[in-house]
Amino acid sequence: MRGFEEPYLVIGAKGMLGTDLVTHLHREGIGTVSMDVDEVDIGDPDSVKRAFAAAKPGTVINVAALTDVDGCEAVPDQAFRVNATGPKLVATACRDARCSLVHISTDYVFDGLTRTPYREEDPMNPLGVYGRSKTEGEVLVRQILPEDHCIVRTQWLFGLHGKNFVATILNLAEEQGTLRVVDDQHGVPTYTPDLAAALLTLCRAGARGTFHVTNSGITTWYGFALRILERAGLGAVKVDPMTTRELGRPAPRPLYSVLDTTRFVALAGKPLRSWQDALDDYLRVPRPGQD
Ligand SMILES: NC(=O)c1ccc[n+]([C@@H]2O[C@H](COP(=O)([O-])OP(=O)(O)OC[C@H]3O[C@@H](n4cnc5c(N)ncnc54)[C@H](OP(=O)(O)O)[C@@H]3O)[C@@H](O)[C@H]2O)c1
Repeated sequence: MRGFEEPYLVIGAKGMLGTDLVTHLHREGIGTVSMDVDEVDIGDPDSVKRAFAAAKPGTVINVAALTDVDGCEAVPDQAFRVNATGPKLVATACRDARCSLVHISTDYVFDGLTRTPYREEDPMNPLGVYGRSKTEGEVLVRQILPEDHCIVRTQWLFGLHGKNFVATILNLAEEQGTLRVVDDQHGVPTYTPDLAAALLTLCRAGARGTFHVTNSGITTWYGFALRILERAGLGAVKVDPMTTRELGRPAPRPLYSVLDTTRFVALAGKPLRSWQDALDDYLRVPRPGQD
């Protein structure tokens, strides 16, 4: 079994999580090489080989993915190329280069038919193309790097460097007097800087296997929207609850996908802070157009 040696290679570095991860690694003094799709295409074996030859990583953190859940339904081949073949090629390159892999996965590997938080060993049963492609990515990483992987499942990410629910709600609130938001999906909003710090905690602890990492608490998208508006001083905007069926998005979604983080907490010594506190941090950063 290998350690999490430097330099770290972050793939997907310009995405929402990747941007905060690279910032955090630099702040912590970790030697880091950053790459995104313009430098490495994880679905292309030659591109992955070239990237590894250039970066000579001791540890790879793969946060690259096709994350448009509804979009994936229309382009399943592309989804599987990035979310399943991609991790397979990255894991193979890690095995050949004798380095460790941290790979990010999702609550969408589960069907959401339970009412208690999912544990890492619970059976996966994804509902849509995105979830199926991410599930296959996990399976391949475990097969190729049985000893030297750390798979981190997370959910409902929001951060300053990507399209996310908080920004969407704030934009809609400016355009519309009344919003309708889904109230029958349960999960935990997770702030990307908090997750970024947790990923380094896992590496420093030499974590192996699968971990669930989210902020603390539980809510629905409706509950999340109410809190966003209240804390942004937009409590007068009316929000009506609606069902997932009423919204009618192309991809099916798990109705209950809370992740049990006990394993992470045991290793880190404490849980991540509440999603409400994390949201307050997000909202403290001025948005474009704000005084
Ligand atoms: N967002 C969520 O709510 C959520 C929830 C659970 C788990 N996750 C997982 O968390 C991770 C990070 O998510 P995120 O929201 O930060 O994603 P993101 O903002 O979409 O970032 C993903 C990055 O990967 C890049 N990429 C796409 N195809 C690639 C390829 N073939 N080769 C190399 N890079 C490629 C993307 O580039 P382009 O933008 O140019 O495509 C983007 O910069 C992903 O593994 C995702 O599955 C996310």
